[in-house]
Amino acid sequence: MNQHSRGIIVAGNWKMNQTNADTSSFLRTVNEHPLIPTLQSSPVTSLIFPSFLSLMTAQNEKGSSLEIGSQNTHWEDHGAFTGEVSTTALKEIGIHWSLTGHSERRQYFGETNQSVQNRTLHLLKNGFRVILCVGETQKERESGQTKTVLENQMNECISESMIPYLNGTLVIAYEPVWAIGTGLTASPRQAEEAHQLLRKNLWDRFGIEASGRTSILYGGSVKPENFEELLECPNIDGGLVGGASLSAHSFLSLLETAARVAEKD
Ligand code: 13P
Repeated sequence: MNQHSRGIIVAGNWKMNQTNADTSSFLRTVNEHPLIPTLQSSPVTSLIFPSFLSLMTAQNEKGSSLEIGSQNTHWEDHGAFTGEVSTTALKEIGIHWSLTGHSERRQYFGETNQSVQNRTLHLLKNGFRVILCVGETQKERESGQTKTVLENQMNECISESMIPYLNGTLVIAYEPVWAIGTGLTASPRQAEEAHQLLRKNLWDRFGIEASGRTSILYGGSVKPENFEELLECPNIDGGLVGGASLSAHSFLSLLETAARVAEKD
């Protein structure tokens, strides 16, 4: 089996950064690069998650090799939910990817494992591909709770109703909170260990096929200098990248690494 039989996903999470003008200028630069048209026939999926206000611009200007997703999506089709966005509105502009459970949503906006489950299931039922984020804090790691925390997040965010989507439609991102935006990256060994644990959780609960088909991305200070060694780990199927996805130059460099690694397989 080649190492990246699940393909490689390079996803940029822009968080609360980049205006519409920044988005246009980023996409203009990215789309001019000769690598971009070759991605369509490669196992590399490249994705950007801009802020809500830039989604339409990104969707209109993305070209054919990039995909665009929402950073957050509600579990109802519509209603009195100020500040939220629905699958209905996203589908209307052609968006079919969303993040759920990002640690910043959990930390600052009261997201719980149950609300992550609600959002994820609704998205999956509406034909979206979802990147569901899990990860432990520094305090949890230092007190030896990493395994328990990750298992609880997996058990409480992924329900049996999601079994039909454990075919690559649902993607997991392991993002250790202590590595996000800190410049501290998990070592390939630490990341691989956590990814193995997540894959084993899927295996134990849903079987070998579900576990084998689900991509698990690593996130937390991924940059062009450390991406290749992370991608060499057997259970790391790509990256969810914050800071290093904001400049077209470094995003392209991450895509080049992914394309080179995929070619080596
Ligand atoms: P950084 O790459 O900036 O550490 O952010 C990671 C992240 O949170 C992606 O979702």
